[in-house]
Amino acid sequence: MFSATDPGPLAGTGAGFTELTTCADAVSGAKRPAGPLPAGDPAEVLAAVLARLGGDGLPERGLGSAAALDLLARVLGEHGADLAHPLAAAHLQPPPLSVAVAADALASTGNNSVDTYDSGPASIAVERWVVTGLAALAGYGPGSAGVFTPGGTLSNLTALLLARDVAAAGRGLDARRDGVAALPRPVVFCSRVAHFSVHRACAVLGLGEAAVRAVEVDAEHRMLPGALEEALTRLAEGETPVAVVATAGTTDFGTVDPLRPLAEIARRHGVWLHVDAAYGFGALFSRRLAGRVDGIALADSITADLHKIGWQPAAAGVLLVRDGTSFAALDRSVAYLNPEDDRTQGYDGALGRSLQTTRRPDAVKVAATFLAHGRAGLGELLDRCHELTRRAEALISADDRLELVAGAHLTTVVFRYLVRDPARSGAVNAELRRRLLRSGDALIGRTDVAGRTCLKLTLLNPAATEADLVDLLALVRQAGAATEDLFEEGAA
Ligand SMILES: Cc1ncc(COP(=O)(O)O)c(C=O)c1O
Repeated sequence: MFSATDPGPLAGTGAGFTELTTCADAVSGAKRPAGPLPAGDPAEVLAAVLARLGGDGLPERGLGSAAALDLLARVLGEHGADLAHPLAAAHLQPPPLSVAVAADALASTGNNSVDTYDSGPASIAVERWVVTGLAALAGYGPGSAGVFTPGGTLSNLTALLLARDVAAAGRGLDARRDGVAALPRPVVFCSRVAHFSVHRACAVLGLGEAAVRAVEVDAEHRMLPGALEEALTRLAEGETPVAVVATAGTTDFGTVDPLRPLAEIARRHGVWLHVDAAYGFGALFSRRLAGRVDGIALADSITADLHKIGWQPAAAGVLLVRDGTSFAALDRSVAYLNPEDDRTQGYDGALGRSLQTTRRPDAVKVAATFLAHGRAGLGELLDRCHELTRRAEALISADDRLELVAGAHLTTVVFRYLVRDPARSGAVNAELRRRLLRSGDALIGRTDVAGRTCLKLTLLNPAATEADLVDLLALVRQAGAATEDLFEEGAA
């Protein structure tokens, strides 16, 4: 029915790009809202999308690719979040680089995988090339290795799996075979502000969330080495330390735990050190900021997310390990994929490093980015975002309607709108953010600091300017004043 010259609806190598042109045309023709979000209540916005898709259920007959793509490009453009908008500053979710977006489509076109040689030799080599470059950037030596993952959550899970199996092996036990029974009373140490994926990983791995021991932090939200030392020394009889998880780039504050002293403590106690650098790894691209993650090479494993500082479309998660043999815990030889005799002849892929089997070649877009922009290009993007964050800190500090809660370390700044009645501070700050989201005018984040609701800017758009920040903060003040008035009228 189809031939190599006419692949029909299939996208073989070289085909599928007419549809991409259709998408690009539709995206540029879409009626974007003026702000970064579509206006309306969440229920209205979601219902509008469903209505445009044509009601419930699968369509019986198709529209054809051009019409389908045109429709979806418009729906996503008109009802999605516009991360390239200068007033979009909510999450660790950057506007992606166009070269990476194009390379991602290129990777999809070939539909190669990374698990076995015969599912995609080029993809395997590209992943190795990117991982080797990232490992060298981290300061790891030639024995290191790494793997792409669907994000920081899964990198942290995989790292703790490796740490769990090493801890069990240290007691002559086999956690891969015997599961939790191999590790009585496991303990994982991380700071009080570590990412919640550490807790989830412990639950998934059968260690239980109760295994997490939260270590105290200093005023800048960094783990206190003395507190870790004490917690390790005070382990009860029968408890097994599995890992210390340090954070390089806390989600809200961008602060980095003191990696060198923590590594020294972990080494002395014989415990695996994992550094969750999902956010902070990208500091290594910048000559100015690389020193902030000093000591990262001392970690046994590192989480890095290039869909944060790295400007990649998600997902571009990476797990690096200092000693490549640590991946032994995930090794598999499967008859239909990589039988032993094939492997010894070099017919092998990355199956033995990942929890996934079929796996997208996410490294392709990162390779395209490295080739196009180099380390220095990415470093410049980060320097611009960092500078913008410092400006945001200065503007907030100088504003008598706003209170700075945490200043610029990487690319976030945390603050509050000052409410006349402090008892209403939490409710007003939360509602003013929802008000901005409903209007679609600005996209900002929120978090809690010491139990108090705060607002957060995450500035990952290198094209945004100080004038955009001035506009953004003016919108925050207006939304705050309007919300306060409403609350007071309601109480009157
Ligand atoms: C420090 C840290 N670790 C892990 C994660 C989880 O990453 P992902 O969303 O890619 O799973 C995040 C997400 O923001 C993070 O900030």
